[in-house]
Amino acid sequence: MIMELNNDRFLRALARQPVDRTPVWMMRQAGRYLPEYRQLRGQAGSFMDLCRNTELACEVTLQPLERYPLDAAILFSDILTIPDAMGLGLYFETGEGPKFRKPVRTTEAVAALKVPDTERDLDYVMNAVRTIRSELNGRVPLIGFSGSPWTLATYMVEGASSKDFRHVKTMLYDTPDAMHHLLDLLAQAVTDYLNAQIRAGAQAVQIFDTWGGTLSTPAYLEFSLRYMEQIVAGLIREHDGRRVPVILFTKNGGQWVEHIASAGPDAVGLDWTTELSQARALVGHRVALQGNLDPNVLFAKPSAIRAEVARILDSYGEGPGHIFNLGHGISQFTDPERVTAFMEALHELSPAYHRR
Ligand code: CP3
Repeated sequence: MIMELNNDRFLRALARQPVDRTPVWMMRQAGRYLPEYRQLRGQAGSFMDLCRNTELACEVTLQPLERYPLDAAILFSDILTIPDAMGLGLYFETGEGPKFRKPVRTTEAVAALKVPDTERDLDYVMNAVRTIRSELNGRVPLIGFSGSPWTLATYMVEGASSKDFRHVKTMLYDTPDAMHHLLDLLAQAVTDYLNAQIRAGAQAVQIFDTWGGTLSTPAYLEFSLRYMEQIVAGLIREHDGRRVPVILFTKNGGQWVEHIASAGPDAVGLDWTTELSQARALVGHRVALQGNLDPNVLFAKPSAIRAEVARILDSYGEGPGHIFNLGHGISQFTDPERVTAFMEALHELSPAYHRR
């Protein structure tokens, strides 16, 4: 059965089909910059309690859509649900980001890991996907997501957020076989996880490779992109009579855009350090491009926000294949009114790029 979509701009742009204006969503669009999120977050207990609570996770997913004319919803969850399901003991300490009780530092620890049973250990995510789809009722498409194997490995080996990636890069260079074993396991886990999200109703999926850009070019190709390519090859690409597009986002990965496009996605996500015009010249005939407003632009006055929106639209240029987004997640310190200014500028300026 094909569910009617009232707004398919996002899916059309991913397929590089004509649209009336440039579709938009924001990475981390549900979150702490919204007072209504902070209020609900206070009632839910821990962050993971919120992710596990189907009704609340659904409500939080819909919050930004109530405020802004966004063209897609993104599942409210986290990339670290997979390592959590592998038994690493995820917890969040206020203001400090994620931590693992049992980081994976040795070849023996890697050998002891197992691919989680998605149906059993991550069913709360699929329940959220099903509930959100039914609540959305065709308003906009729902995006599912996962972290890339490399990005998940950074958190699993470091045991927390990191600045220098000392432990994970030690494993990469000192015991590359153990690293490959870990990444291969994660690639299988991510493939299962995203396919389960697609079966539960996710209409597009994005892989967040937040830390791929910390690698050298050969290490990126061998330890990050190769595993994303393996995942893309294993994903369900058509469901309920519709294509399920895949977006690959490597933060700081602009110099590898041709390699990323060759890994088989429908779109490549770019941060603000890459010029869309240059990326489009290199790969625009093969994939759609998503991005790439610096989230810090949203701290500026509305006229400055508008100027940057105009510049980015112009950089991509005329015609389909652009999904407007931030170059990375929105900051918790953003004033929600500035997001309104961003949306207004985009709605006013983008139709001119789609007249033919
Ligand atoms: O985009 C969305 O609105 C969906 C929700 C979403 C969250 N995390 C919710 C969240 C998504 C897509 C993510 C992905 C994620 N999580 C990434 C990749 C994207 C990126 O930003 O690079 C990464 C690296 C993580 C890991 C993670 N989760 C960190 C580092 C932190 C703490 C720092 C921070 O930014 O808050 C989290 C916690 C987290 N995930 C929060 C939210 C709303 C804040 C927790 C809270 O409310 O207390």
